[in-house]
Amino acid sequence: MSTSRRTAFVTGASQGLGAAIATALAQAQFDVAVSGTRAASLGDTMGRIEAAGARAVAVELDLREPSNAERAMAEVITAFGHLDVLVNNAGITLRKWALEVTPAEWEALLDINLKGAFFLSQQMGRHLVASGRTGCIVNIASTYGIVGYAQRSVYGISKAGLIHMTKMLAIEWAEHGIRVNAVAPGTVDTPSRAAYFAADTAARDAIRARVPLRRFATMEEVAAAVCYLVGPQAEYITGHTLLLDGGLTAY
Ligand SMILES: NC(=O)c1ccc[n+]([C@@H]2O[C@H](COP(=O)([O-])OP(=O)(O)OC[C@H]3O[C@@H](n4cnc5c(N)ncnc54)[C@H](OP(=O)(O)O)[C@@H]3O)[C@@H](O)[C@H]2O)c1
Repeated sequence: MSTSRRTAFVTGASQGLGAAIATALAQAQFDVAVSGTRAASLGDTMGRIEAAGARAVAVELDLREPSNAERAMAEVITAFGHLDVLVNNAGITLRKWALEVTPAEWEALLDINLKGAFFLSQQMGRHLVASGRTGCIVNIASTYGIVGYAQRSVYGISKAGLIHMTKMLAIEWAEHGIRVNAVAPGTVDTPSRAAYFAADTAARDAIRARVPLRRFATMEEVAAAVCYLVGPQAEYITGHTLLLDGGLTAY
């Protein structure tokens, strides 16, 4: 069990942004724990962490059940001995008119995107306060948590909650040396976005046309923002949401 290297836990890292963030943190000299709803889906990400010379730990975590947060954090802390960084990345999306959203869809979005992130953060806060260590939390929000857009109501509400949670926890935990920040990307070029847009190129073009820089973010750009926020250059930053939106919300 090593206590000298910095350690991070990235949720929802089986693919997409979570996998990219986990890889970037490994390249930045962190040992990295990753979660997915099935441990079997984490093999590729584990390989990329280990290829960067870091230790990788896989944890199964379904955030629909709040008690899973305590177990998953305990597994990570037992494996590493301590935890310095939590990245609340796991999330689901929903593209649906507000008139048609069901209570079950509302519950799933809010449970995974917001409630899950809160109770994982609570476990992280308890660990850091009890151990007297400083640490960081980064929440992966979205521009839909800041500006309105049709068919994204419940998703946007969950991300707006995450952005506000970032401020609330930053205030409560600053005295313990715990910094809490968020990253709010616009559309990111992830494999799942690419697959979705392949079937609807008109939607892709319409969304891209609204971005002043006329392109989507890369996963590496978002991962670099997370690395910055947990690094020494950002030690005076807390309660902040860093937009990576190509100017979308500057209108
Ligand atoms: N892609 C974008 O354009 C974009 C833009 C702004 C913000 N974001 C945010 O960035 C994050 C990652 O997005 P992505 O596009 O990379 O997503 P993705 O490819 O769909 O991956 C989502 C991750 O979340 C995990 N997950 C799903 N349901 C879960 C549950 N019930 N409990 C725990 N984990 C669960 C998945 O694990 P399994 O594979 O095991 O199901 C997967 O690892 C999300 O929070 C998303 O809202 C994305």
